[in-house]
Amino acid sequence: MRKVIITGALSVILAGNVLAQTPVYLDETKPVEARIEDALNRMTLEEKVAITHAQSKFCSPGVARLGIPEFWMTDGPHGIRPEVLWDEWDQAGWTNDSCVAFPALTCLAATWDPEVSMLYGKSIGEEARYRNKTVLLAPGVNIYRTPLNGRNFEYMGEDPYLAGRMVVPYVRGVQQNGVAACVKHYALNNQEVNRHTTNVIVDDRALYEIYLPAFKAAVQEGKAWSIMGSYNLYKDQHGCHNQYLLNDILKGEWGFDGVVVSDWGGVHNTEEAIHNGLDLEFGSWTNGLSNGASNAYDNYYLAQPYLKLIKEGKVGTKELDDKVRRILRLAYRTTMDRNRPYGALCSEAHIAAARHIAEEGIVLLQNKNNTLPIDLGKVKKIAVIGENAVKMMTVGGGSSSLKVKYELSPLDGIKKRVGKRAEVVYARGYVGDPSGEYNGVKSGQNLEDKRSPEELIAEAVQVAKECDYVIFIGGLNKSAHQDCEDSDRKDIALSYGQDAVISALAKANKNLVVVNISGNAVAMPWVKEVPSIVQAWYLGTESGNAIASILMGDVNPSGKLPFTFPVALNDVGAHKLGEYPGVPRNDGSKIVDEKYNEGIFVGYRWAEKNKITPLFPFGHGLSYTTFAYGTPVASSKTITADGNIQVSLTVKNTGAVAGKEIVQLYIGDEKASVPRPVKELKGFQKVELLPGEEKEVVFTITDNDLKFFDAAAHAWKAEPGKFKAYIAASATDVRSTVTFEYK
Ligand code: GLC
Repeated sequence: MRKVIITGALSVILAGNVLAQTPVYLDETKPVEARIEDALNRMTLEEKVAITHAQSKFCSPGVARLGIPEFWMTDGPHGIRPEVLWDEWDQAGWTNDSCVAFPALTCLAATWDPEVSMLYGKSIGEEARYRNKTVLLAPGVNIYRTPLNGRNFEYMGEDPYLAGRMVVPYVRGVQQNGVAACVKHYALNNQEVNRHTTNVIVDDRALYEIYLPAFKAAVQEGKAWSIMGSYNLYKDQHGCHNQYLLNDILKGEWGFDGVVVSDWGGVHNTEEAIHNGLDLEFGSWTNGLSNGASNAYDNYYLAQPYLKLIKEGKVGTKELDDKVRRILRLAYRTTMDRNRPYGALCSEAHIAAARHIAEEGIVLLQNKNNTLPIDLGKVKKIAVIGENAVKMMTVGGGSSSLKVKYELSPLDGIKKRVGKRAEVVYARGYVGDPSGEYNGVKSGQNLEDKRSPEELIAEAVQVAKECDYVIFIGGLNKSAHQDCEDSDRKDIALSYGQDAVISALAKANKNLVVVNISGNAVAMPWVKEVPSIVQAWYLGTESGNAIASILMGDVNPSGKLPFTFPVALNDVGAHKLGEYPGVPRNDGSKIVDEKYNEGIFVGYRWAEKNKITPLFPFGHGLSYTTFAYGTPVASSKTITADGNIQVSLTVKNTGAVAGKEIVQLYIGDEKASVPRPVKELKGFQKVELLPGEEKEVVFTITDNDLKFFDAAAHAWKAEPGKFKAYIAASATDVRSTVTFEYK
């Protein structure tokens, strides 16, 4: 065909015409939905299919021809992952991608403070924005069903109401930076063992009352722009392409208008990927036989196989257009929003935020004889003992692993805080995991120590005897079968012989505090031997400063547990009645069925139903001061449908130092036609009080707080009758109750 070259005046006119007609999809004065339709109509079939799956390990294509940018995903919930090679998990070796590690999300949940969560989301969102990421693959809100789950440290505890209140600000904070949050792992991913093959069997009440609420809040209140499907199965369909969870509930009942992103390697089937709610496929191991064998992106389930089915007329383009609309909507909310802020990386503000979140989330579990805080005017020599006093915790644990600007260890933080006021002596105490490397990021620490446990304990005891005060810093770490992705713990006890070390130290010095660094509950057989115990989560970049501030009393601890510490594993429903880790099918499918037989009775709900006394209850946390709760007053003794009542009380700081108290509201249905927990968390407020100061706390109770999910009617329902409002300092520390009637 002869090529006609247009020159001269005609070309100017044509060019002028073309420039004059700015495409609607680029015209920011037009509504986004109109821009989406315009862009969709300009895209070829191949471009539409291409945009629904990855082109590299963490990026998916835009539409280059139309100037629609690529989409860059990044882990994780606690900080921005370092760059990896185009098609590898290993490091790209960039020198400008170190980040601030914020505390783990269990710590955030333990602050019980939505304002802190907003600060968290804003800060990590700024780091993601500065690194030019489109989607932050976070936060995780899977419910803490078993203390063995390797990824509980990335989530927000056992209670759907607390997780729901805390996830919303995080999502909003991230997204105000023009970066999408991607709330994960939707849904029922409550363990790491058999995570790709576990088929969860759970009744609708537990699904709707326990496992879905935090995701629903993230979508309907947080307005999350993306959701990540889970690896596990539900009703025999993988979470990344699941008709029930994605189409019926997420997009149907909840009206989700964002993008469903698969977990990496979570897609297994083109037909289901087309029809069951998946929009964007990442990380597929295309030959389906092994991890990473042949990441030929054209072989992705939503790549050539999809295009082929369309071209053969075996599947239409309705589902494709819906996926593309959602992905274009993501573009207009992020990369194509000219008003996006610019973000920041490793700023003083982010470092201060990391420290503040950590200090707000640390939990004082026990403090006999007011052994804490340490009075530096009275001690000359402090022993710091334990591997977790020195071990870097920002490297490892799976996809949330980071390359940080720095991580101040607990030992270095204590030394810095103590200065010349006292001598600080360190002893290892035990050897856990001396390694420190993940995906090519190395901690650089050499923690090798060939001494025997006996030698290590003898040294620790000797040092303890010579000191006025002993701080043992242990717990779990980010190694396999500790707090780590893709593996669960094998039991609830501390590893590496720590229990023996702690007991020996308790005999050697009465001024002992145990600092447990973990993302899960651990057994504490020495709990009666040790005066003070602090739950100090994975605190990230500012670990050392935050721990030192709390131990020295610069900051009064105010965190409370977002999950129960059971005495033993059999005190947990998933282990007593549930089928954890599941029952393998014997049909060659590799599927492992797991019945959540405990149903809605998870965490404190289980403990109360079965009258089990926990080691430390949900919602527990002490202070260096004390608080008195006044008598609650209800605005009415009756509540009607769509009505509400207020319950108010005063809280007074009756101690000598300023502090914060988290007042909790639980609701119990005195008589129901279905089994219900004794009480369920339905409100909380963190109130700051100076010594002697008193403030009023007001809770509003609505009929929604009284409802359970009626599976038969597939609807939420409140039954007329008596209810009780419990005002509490923890799930087991009820200060008062108010009875009222729902009519
Ligand atoms: C991982 C995790 C997920 C993470 C993704 C990308 O397997 O399950 O949380 O965001 O893959 O690293």
